Amino acid sequence: MKPRTQAIHGGHTADPVTGATAVPVYQTAAYAYGTAEELADVFAGRAPGDVYSRISNPTTQALEKRLADLEAGQKGPATGCIATASGMAAITATMMGLLRSGDEILSANGIFGGTISLFSNTLGRFGVTTTYANADKADSFGKRIGERTKVIFLESIGNPRMNVPDIEGIAHAAHERNIPLVVDTTLTPPTIVQSGLLGADIVVFSTSKYINGHGTAIGGALVDTGNYDWGRGLFPDLRQTALRLGRFAFLGHLRKVIYRDLGGCPAPMNSFLMLQGLETLGPRMDLHCSNAQRLASELSRHPEISWVNYPGLNSSPYNDRAQRWFGGSAGGVLTFSLGTRQRAMAFVNALRLAKNMTNIGDAKTLVLHPATTIYQEYTDEDRKAVGVHDDMLRVSVGIEDIDDIIEDFEQAIAAATGFATAVKEAT
Ligand SMILES: Cc1ncc(COP(=O)(O)O)c(C=O)c1O
Repeated sequence: MKPRTQAIHGGHTADPVTGATAVPVYQTAAYAYGTAEELADVFAGRAPGDVYSRISNPTTQALEKRLADLEAGQKGPATGCIATASGMAAITATMMGLLRSGDEILSANGIFGGTISLFSNTLGRFGVTTTYANADKADSFGKRIGERTKVIFLESIGNPRMNVPDIEGIAHAAHERNIPLVVDTTLTPPTIVQSGLLGADIVVFSTSKYINGHGTAIGGALVDTGNYDWGRGLFPDLRQTALRLGRFAFLGHLRKVIYRDLGGCPAPMNSFLMLQGLETLGPRMDLHCSNAQRLASELSRHPEISWVNYPGLNSSPYNDRAQRWFGGSAGGVLTFSLGTRQRAMAFVNALRLAKNMTNIGDAKTLVLHPATTIYQEYTDEDRKAVGVHDDMLRVSVGIEDIDDIIEDFEQAIAAATGFATAVKEAT
């Protein structure tokens, strides 16, 4: 099946008992068995089954199966997927599953602020260090790989830097040193790119964004693409686990130990909402991307706009990669500037249709001033290092009629700058 079909049919056909085509919400904490021996067998992994919803749940399993199928693409089956309570829980479980004190993460810079905080603050407290580097060029990034580097981390499109790192080149550099590459694909869900094909070993993402699509639940997932050989990998405990579980070593270790211990499971109802969102992911992403493309080009021609960052623009240094890897669908997020922070704030205050809120990937257009919100705890210097400028606005372009979005932006630009001419007239 092609990804758009998998997004609708993967992981569930019809309920064998009732014929229900929607995945039932198994709103249960635990599961009863007829005999003590049966339950003991399931606990011991000798028989399939669920015992407790912190570890597995049938609604969540349907979501995991659908996401694993979607990420597999033409490459063949992915090893599998674990769904989590949030995107952050997926990244946390992945890192806790791989790393121990003394290890180092080599990460792209300009990534999501929550991930930087996880790496630098939370994991830092447990003796894991993180080096951040510009990931636009594999050569210079690869030179930052050190003796203690055990994981390389990228975002397929950096949020908020809007860069497309050299995923293929960095995958190559990572694999030369037998280091797994983890890619956060939140901004380019699997109907746009299956990152395993670009060399990602583990794909992590927030399902709160495009997969849910309507801003109604928080969730996340991680997928083992099957590219990394855990039996010959860098991680002694996973090499041991691989003796029993083969290619399922990493996911087995997570399911039975890390994921179980951290307790970051999704609620069954949230898994249902993610499954429902997935069914329309393909056509919604088309609209997010075409609306973002149109808005980016309108803004880039407007005389009051200082700059626009969107990988879909011909002028973007990342346009080649967006064309090659994302089939020209450069996602639904862009950043731009009206020249000053004052104008940025005035623009947000003048919006009538777009909402002023954090989050991306909602059907609604959302606008945010990152420097005073997500990155407000950063020093000026740290903000600069991650590419968050004082004048920068971030837009998650929704799927409303693009003419309405442009009209709203035109009037807000006029209000913020005193510039009375509409974008279209100006061009
Ligand atoms: C690129 C990226 N990764 C991860 C996350 C974290 O996801 P969640 O909010 O579901 O924990 C976000 C949230 O904005 C994000 O933008």
